[in-house]
Amino acid sequence: MKKILVLNGPNINMLGIREKNIYGKQDYAALCEYIRQEAAALNVEVELAQSNFEGELVTLIQQAYGKFDGIVINPAALTHYSVALLDAIKAVALPAIEVHLSNIHAREEFRHKSVTAAGCLGQICGLGFQGYALALRALVERI
Ligand code: DQA
Repeated sequence: MKKILVLNGPNINMLGIREKNIYGKQDYAALCEYIRQEAAALNVEVELAQSNFEGELVTLIQQAYGKFDGIVINPAALTHYSVALLDAIKAVALPAIEVHLSNIHAREEFRHKSVTAAGCLGQICGLGFQGYALALRALVERI
C-alpha cells in the first residue's frame, strides 16, 4: 500500500480555538479523523504529524525519504518565509502538495506569497478540510 505523510505546521493544533471565522469550529483531532477516513476510502496509508517547530518539520520531511511515496503539507505561517522547508521538500524530491484551509490569496498581502509551493506539485487553498482530501486524491493518482 502506498504511504503518504500529512504534515501540519505551527498553530494548526489550535484549530477549533483560533480565529474560528477563518478556520472553522472543528479541531485538529477532527481534521486528523477526516484525513484518516479519506485515506481509507482511497486505500492509501497515511501518517499524520503536526509541529510548531520549523526544524522538526524539516527533520520529518528528511525522514520521509525512502519511507513515504508522497507528502501533503500545510506549512501554515512557515509557508510565507521558510526557505528551509522549501529546501527539505526539494531535497527528498517526493511528490508534495501544499494545502491551506483558508484562501491565502483573499487575505493579508503577506499571505499571498508561498515560498514552499515552489517545491510542490501544486497548491490547494480555501477549501477547508476538503483540501486535504483533494490533495490525497491527486497524489494517489500520481504515485
Ligand atoms: C494557513 C494559512 C497561513 O497563512 C496561516 O499562517 C496558517 C494557516 C491555512 O491553512 O489557511 O497558520 O496555512
